[in-house]
Amino acid sequence: MEPAGQNPRPAHYEIVPRQGLDFGLDGDIPKYWLGGDPFKTRFFDAMSTLFPEGEKFFITCVRDYRDQITDPVLNQEVKDFMRQEGQHGMVHTQFNNRLKAQGVGVDGIEEQMKRILGRIRKIMPRTFTLGQTAAAEHMTAIMAHSFFHRREVMEDADPRIRAMYAWHAVEEIEHKAVAYDVLTKVAKASYFMRIFTMLYVSLIFPLHTFMIMSHMFKVDGFGWRQRAGLWFKGLWWLYKPGGLYLPVIPHYLKYYVPGYHPWKEGKMFSYERWLEVFGQTNDPIAAGNALHATGI
Ligand SMILES: [Fe+2]
Ligand SMILES: [Fe+2]
Repeated sequence: MEPAGQNPRPAHYEIVPRQGLDFGLDGDIPKYWLGGDPFKTRFFDAMSTLFPEGEKFFITCVRDYRDQITDPVLNQEVKDFMRQEGQHGMVHTQFNNRLKAQGVGVDGIEEQMKRILGRIRKIMPRTFTLGQTAAAEHMTAIMAHSFFHRREVMEDADPRIRAMYAWHAVEEIEHKAVAYDVLTKVAKASYFMRIFTMLYVSLIFPLHTFMIMSHMFKVDGFGWRQRAGLWFKGLWWLYKPGGLYLPVIPHYLKYYVPGYHPWKEGKMFSYERWLEVFGQTNDPIAAGNALHATGI
């Protein structure tokens, strides 16, 4: 157990659970809120449908080890992590209600997710489910970077939804090491388990997202030719050189390095700007706009 005081989290990256933030999600937001582009919009929408059940699962898997944590710093971090994730689930549920009104089968998606995750918890050891959580946290931290590092990704987004993702990104960065620390210091999971669970999450997460997007395109009434066009263009946007994914591959691969720790790299350069503007205005949309504006 690493004693308190040796926590590698930079002092100004506090884990702050922020509650009751109003993103104006009940407002008149266009269906294709990301530049009018169905693929890009549904990519983010599909992830949003996974968050409430997914984040509940993360909380449960970290909570499994709560009684074994003796480090008071880590114990407090776990508490704050759970409060942040709980809040994310609530805000994404509010957002997902918009999707429901568009005909997206959000309830069915959540039921299926619950069933799958419940089954995994039944048959797999607790180190596996915690490993899954730590791996997913690494992925969300990477996404926090890739969605906001380059301005073009979110340039044409509705500022309210962009702000919701900016806030989520900021908090994912703040707590990015918590599940990992519980996995390595408390559960003392092996290197093999860490890597194995990362490989599993790397395969399942995009697959599941794509399946939900496919459902959404059908709900939206696109014929098969249109859908083929959307996928062709959209997958190129995701996987082309300089696209959303390839530039962050080196960051992703760091997880496989023995001795890796989330705070060794990957600080979010726009984090301070978000904190500053949110501190001055208490307005998450202004803070989201400011974070977005720091992109290159
Ligand atoms: Fe989250
Ligand atoms: Fe998280």
